[in-house]
Amino acid sequence: MLTDGLGRELTYLRISLTDKCNLRCKYCVPSCGVERMPHDEILTLEEVLKLTDIFTKLGVTKVRFTGGEPLVRKNVISLIQNVSKLTNSPKICITTNGVLLSDYIDYLYYSSVHDINISLDTLDPLTYASITGQDAIAQVFDSIRECLNLGVNLKINAVPLKGINEEDIPALAALSRDYDMSVRFIELMPVGCASSYTGISNDEVRRKLDEVYGEGVEDGEGNGPATYVSYNGFRGKIGFISPMSHSFCSSCNRLRLTCDGKLKLCLASPLSLDLKSLLRSGASDEDISHAIKEAVLNKPAHHEFNSEGFVSQAGNMIGIGG
Ligand code: 5AD
Ligand code: SF4
Repeated sequence: MLTDGLGRELTYLRISLTDKCNLRCKYCVPSCGVERMPHDEILTLEEVLKLTDIFTKLGVTKVRFTGGEPLVRKNVISLIQNVSKLTNSPKICITTNGVLLSDYIDYLYYSSVHDINISLDTLDPLTYASITGQDAIAQVFDSIRECLNLGVNLKINAVPLKGINEEDIPALAALSRDYDMSVRFIELMPVGCASSYTGISNDEVRRKLDEVYGEGVEDGEGNGPATYVSYNGFRGKIGFISPMSHSFCSSCNRLRLTCDGKLKLCLASPLSLDLKSLLRSGASDEDISHAIKEAVLNKPAHHEFNSEGFVSQAGNMIGIGG
């Protein structure tokens, strides 16, 4: 079991497969664009598989593929199939913007990916285009329909932004009234270019939803940072992920592997271990496992987003994967 210096058990690994994305969400990609990582800096799929194998042997039981957009990575399906065949195969989840998902959903589903999170910040095509830079909401709706038809465990992740999509909050929530899925509201974290936008606290989102749909009832914690609320007549739950107003760091169980092979100990911190260099220098699995065990001892206790004068050194979210 991987345990950090504070005794937190690290059983969940988020794996960013690429720094590329087919969308340009305002708060994730800076308007000047991002410098592309040179191709040979990116882990090969064989290297990703190898590291995943090592992490699962160290006790990681759940992996989530992220990006950028994971589905723009070539051969992502064969990677996922190989991960599903590992000796200690983990639960495999994916977070996607949904634009390409309908092309891949059958392959994913039959490779044991039954948990899919789709990022969607509005139901309005014009607002969607203004947030993401692409007129692609119809493809996302198609993907959602296909996930529902297959019986995928589906969650929509939405980041409310002042003056941009705040009016969309009740309509987004209504997806979980009308369909069998959860909708989760994530407080904006001031990472990279997101610092130029103002998020909305989940207390405010909750008040708005209570006003429109009647008072919600607390309905569990889930097995991650979200807390859930049920509304009368809703088929799915509403989730609140509130890193800014209610830090959940004390129960954090996650690690992140960036697409260039850095093990990030905390989303908010530049602390990392360069696993790619270790791999490429010919280190044995034992050496790599040992380095990981040592590194995680330094996982920060919590983020400092709310500290006065906080300046993120963690880069833009597109390079971290949420
Ligand atoms: N704060 C909170 N959530 C963010 N995401 C991207 N950037 C931020 C941010 N600064 C979300 C995306 C996606 C998930 C991977 O992370 O909207 O749902
Ligand atoms: Fe974990 Fe860091 Fe996120 Fe807190 S901010 S929940 S410690 S990854």
